[in-house]
Amino acid sequence: MELPPQRRVYGRRLGHRLRPGRQALLERALPRLRLDLPRDERARIDPAGLFPAPVRDLWLEIGFGAGEHLAHQLRANPDVGIIGCEPFVQGVAGLLSLLEGDGTAARARIFPDDGRLLVHYLPDACIGRLFVLFPDPWPKKRHHKRRLIDADTLAGFARVLRDGAEFRWASDDRDYVEWTLERVAANGAFVRADPGASEAPARPADWPETRYEQKARAAGRAPVLLRFVRAPR
Ligand SMILES: C[S@@+](CC[C@H](N)C(=O)[O-])C[C@H]1O[C@@H](n2cnc3c(N)ncnc32)[C@H](O)[C@@H]1O
Repeated sequence: MELPPQRRVYGRRLGHRLRPGRQALLERALPRLRLDLPRDERARIDPAGLFPAPVRDLWLEIGFGAGEHLAHQLRANPDVGIIGCEPFVQGVAGLLSLLEGDGTAARARIFPDDGRLLVHYLPDACIGRLFVLFPDPWPKKRHHKRRLIDADTLAGFARVLRDGAEFRWASDDRDYVEWTLERVAANGAFVRADPGASEAPARPADWPETRYEQKARAAGRAPVLLRFVRAPR
């Protein structure tokens, strides 16, 4: 299994300067929650060693943005541990501020980098749910190669998801929806969780709106929420 190629898929890592309080929070809280990768590229992360207490299931969110969805899922699922990946430092600080003081941080690990790298280091069939919500759409054709979803990324997802695990994906970009449906179908390891439903099936109660989704709706763009299930191996 090779490391993912150095294909750039995310926009910025640094935005405007962090407010002093956020910077202090980042320095104080991130070292405890940051997930460091093994030095050996053939080694794998041990899910059993991620959290101080055992969890029922391990979930993964790639591109958590400001972290409100991840924080919600931690609160709503008190027996689940979640790894969140986000290279944008403002987003990481945002998640840390949401987790501060509510007791859920012990079930969170943060990988402040490219989620494809993290997936590479996960063992097979260890993830019970995967969220990729509003990945950067890169609408210009010459930027399509930066889209997170491609054959290699999906092969990694299929490897790390357990049989029956759910993969939730959303976008407000029609072309990216088509692109993803085509590539997921070509991958062959996933089935739609709601077969026969329209392309935009009803929203499950346990899927809150993200910040990006709220902005998209406010701008009149209708998001498409997709749920796939990892088919039995
Ligand atoms: C459009 S935003 C959506 C954020 C959030 N999911 C939401 O719905 O509000 C996409 C996010 O994905 C992050 N991202 C892009 N490529 C990524 C990658 N390879 N691994 C992890 N995060 C990534 C970006 O930094 C950005 O914060």
